Amino acid sequence: YKETYEYKLIEKGYEIDKAKKLIEVLENEKLDEILETKYSEVYFEVVNQKYFLKKYYEKYIEYKEYHEDTSYEDVIAIVNVHANVGWYNESFDTNVENGYAMLVNKFYHLNNSYERDDLVKVSLAYSYAGQKVSQVVIDNFEVMREDINKALGVRLMINSSYRAYREQESIYDEYKKVSLQYADSYAARPGYSEHQTGLAIDLTSLEHPYAKEFKESEEYAWLKDNCYKYGFILRYPEGKEHITGYNTESWHFRYVGNEVAKVIHDEGITLDEYYAYYMEK
Ligand code: DAL
Ligand code: ZN
Repeated sequence: YKETYEYKLIEKGYEIDKAKKLIEVLENEKLDEILETKYSEVYFEVVNQKYFLKKYYEKYIEYKEYHEDTSYEDVIAIVNVHANVGWYNESFDTNVENGYAMLVNKFYHLNNSYERDDLVKVSLAYSYAGQKVSQVVIDNFEVMREDINKALGVRLMINSSYRAYREQESIYDEYKKVSLQYADSYAARPGYSEHQTGLAIDLTSLEHPYAKEFKESEEYAWLKDNCYKYGFILRYPEGKEHITGYNTESWHFRYVGNEVAKVIHDEGITLDEYYAYYMEK
């Protein structure tokens, strides 16, 4: 028994349940490393997190070492979505085969000619001229719009929807006139905007047309609680800025389909975290 990892870990100060968990999750090589260094709660805490991914074990440990004050939950999320390397410092092609759940963020981008093939004109009954978006977005948005109207008597409006690469470029360049940091916290760089997917919409209501009052409105609260029933998610929630890389946006909703939307809603995670754990895994 003295030759077992269980015995050695307990000798080192690890409680039996924690030792068992470490043995269950980690390879011998990693267990040897733990035995060679002084007792630390970090190893167990990391492997015990819900969204722990074995392939990032070393990155979690390293990130925690340099960011002691970051919670374990955040360490896991930050590493899982690649935010530990810094925004835009790594770049991957978006896998468009993932359909409605495709990920576009500061690490996953679309090429400059990507365009969905089901883009349709958005009705002038609830948008301003010249907009296009995916048919599936319209179908689900219309039901959601009717339901929120029944519930609260408000009329949702689509302010922005599909944006081609070039359009995003001019928006980003406009913000960049203030500063690069300003631009990066409010707009995506061209190729890195969800609006190019044709699955994102910026919403307010006729009753509360300005973002600031919309955020305080009951329709925003309703959408936050109910949009998943129509396959949408609030894409940049408050408190997740370090995961999404954006200031919270009360107006930006993304269609991901009912199944994915429900998981994201129920687990209180972002699409970035969902993708890392459930799709890329
Ligand atoms: N404002 C969002 C993040 C975009 O530019 O795509
Ligand atoms: Zn948006």
